[in-house]
Amino acid sequence: MAKEEAAGSLREKNVKVVFVLGGPGSGKGTQCANIVRDFGFTHLSAGDLLRAEIKSGSENGTMIQNMIKEGKIVPSEVTIRLLEKAMIENGNDKFLIDGFPRNEENRAAFEEVTKIEPEFVLFFDCPEEEMEKRLLNRNQVLSSPHGRDDDNIETIRKRFKVFLESSLPVIEHYYSKAKVRKVDAARSADEVFESVKGIFSSFGPKDS
Ligand code: ADP
Ligand code: C5P
Ligand code: MG
Repeated sequence: MAKEEAAGSLREKNVKVVFVLGGPGSGKGTQCANIVRDFGFTHLSAGDLLRAEIKSGSENGTMIQNMIKEGKIVPSEVTIRLLEKAMIENGNDKFLIDGFPRNEENRAAFEEVTKIEPEFVLFFDCPEEEMEKRLLNRNQVLSSPHGRDDDNIETIRKRFKVFLESSLPVIEHYYSKAKVRKVDAARSADEVFESVKGIFSSFGPKDS
């Protein structure tokens, strides 16, 4: 499908998008799984899509792998193409887009290409110390599909720096549009989900 066609078909369907943001290890993936279960959204993690792209042996694979290893943000063109494709193939009309937009370039390009404005931004606010502990622990879960190359202390520090310098300004942008729903993510996963439920209650329970 041509780029313009893809964007057009998403607009026609009037898809609803919630951006799920927060530092590395703040619990985005964990909470998205709960939201999918209870509110019928489809979860698209930009990081997961990029990792799948590496595995698929795509021509961009090596570039993506190098950027992830350095905690850098992959050019928007690549990530947006993957997100659009996933949204179209899935067919749902409610999406959680997790870990995107990660910088101003991501944000402006997504807006330009898809013309989709998020319903709101779910922001998991968590101190770095807690996130670091969780990420190092995630890497200890041997044979887990979540064991990741970039969950080492060197890359984690780089990811934190990128979050502060590039991703927080995106959250600030959405604050200025009154679109941020902030959740204290430094609590247990169950406690965090109690707050999340309150935010999503207007979407009603899952249809089926
Ligand atoms: P993100 O997608 O934001 O990077 P994850 O959901 O993958 O974060 O969580 C990172 C790690 O922390 C995982 O190992 C996960 O099981 C764990 N975790 C998630 N939420 C919590 C929480 N509220 N308290 C403690 N550990 C958590
Ligand atoms: O969100 P997640 O922790 O899975 O992201 C892992 C890595 O994927 C990031 O550190 C970054 O290198 C890459 N990424 C990106 N652009 C995004 C999301 C993730 O380049 N929008
Ligand atoms: Mg994640």
